[in-house]
Amino acid sequence: MKILGTGSYLPPKVVTNDDLARSLDTSDEWIHSHTGIHSRHIAEADDCTSTMAVKAAKKALEAAGAMPDEIGLIIVATSTPDYNTFPATACLVQDALGCKNAGACDLQAACAGFIYALDQGRCWVAAHPDRKVLVIGAETLSRIVDWTDRATCILFGDGAGAVVVGADGDQTPHATVKLGADGSGYEFISRAGGARVIPAPGQVPVPFLILQGRPVFNFAVKTMDAVVRGLCDELGLVPSELDRIFAHQANGRILEAVGRRMGLPMDKFFMNIETTGNTSAASIPVALDEAVRRGELKEGARICLVGFGAGLTYGGILTEWPRV
Ligand code: UT7
Repeated sequence: MKILGTGSYLPPKVVTNDDLARSLDTSDEWIHSHTGIHSRHIAEADDCTSTMAVKAAKKALEAAGAMPDEIGLIIVATSTPDYNTFPATACLVQDALGCKNAGACDLQAACAGFIYALDQGRCWVAAHPDRKVLVIGAETLSRIVDWTDRATCILFGDGAGAVVVGADGDQTPHATVKLGADGSGYEFISRAGGARVIPAPGQVPVPFLILQGRPVFNFAVKTMDAVVRGLCDELGLVPSELDRIFAHQANGRILEAVGRRMGLPMDKFFMNIETTGNTSAASIPVALDEAVRRGELKEGARICLVGFGAGLTYGGILTEWPRV
């Protein structure tokens, strides 16, 4: 199985830290030094998760040289679907792209969603090698953050990334994969209007994303280190033998701490968070597409994709580009 093409879309409107500091008690200095973020892209009123997903997917189809009717399944990883909660955003994408032979569903594993979706997609192609799958990570986090909460709104941005996976004469699944979750951390990042289907006594609904930053930071560093090491161990490798790590762009400081724990230089880690912010499920496919289009991903490069998110979920995929 191979990734046959990649695509991404970031909405044109850019909001800088200085822009945020005009209405919030914050500064470019605080945000950049605590997160590595300088600016983020924010969707205008005419864009939403499905429209950004479609724009990224069109580029991925073009790069793959694939026609819409060759797609047998569309999986959209998102925590910000167009509709709350159905129809699936993937159905709107299927309609807009004219993928008339495709099934379509969403997958919700928060910021780790693209890793989960890519694993589902490659396994689906293994079972249906005559068809291709479109795997998309797309988010409009700007619509669910509290723009008066300086501790959360500064982190996030909007965007979409997509890949087309197909057998391309190689039906063997190639990647080494780890998916995991630690549900005991379910309260660290949540939304659902702040209330579960069965509300806890005294629970007050909050329509925004709520985040406990410190425990999530600590979980992220420990878990991404463990996932990358675990995948390397399975293959008898050490992390320094990886050519590039595409880690979820949540916070530049998190990635620096992972690099220190692993004894790896920062140039092993692809970084674009400075200009994207945290785009959740879109962050890894957007990063992959940027690296591909800049010619930084050579055939046979040993790469690891690794992410974590609300749930808490996590996952990693170690492979040789572009095989999965
Ligand atoms: O995709 C997964 C999603 N989530 C994450 O990855 C989040 C992981 N966590 C983080 O990235 C970091 O914990 C944050 C960036 C969210 C926060 O950084 P921190 O270094 O953990 O700061 P803190 O929450 O411990 O807050 C330190 C201080 C507080 O002030 P006091 O109580 O010490 O007076 C905050 O009120 O910084 C204050 N603060 C701010 N100050 C200026 C929090 N946000 C801001 C801000 N500007 N934007």
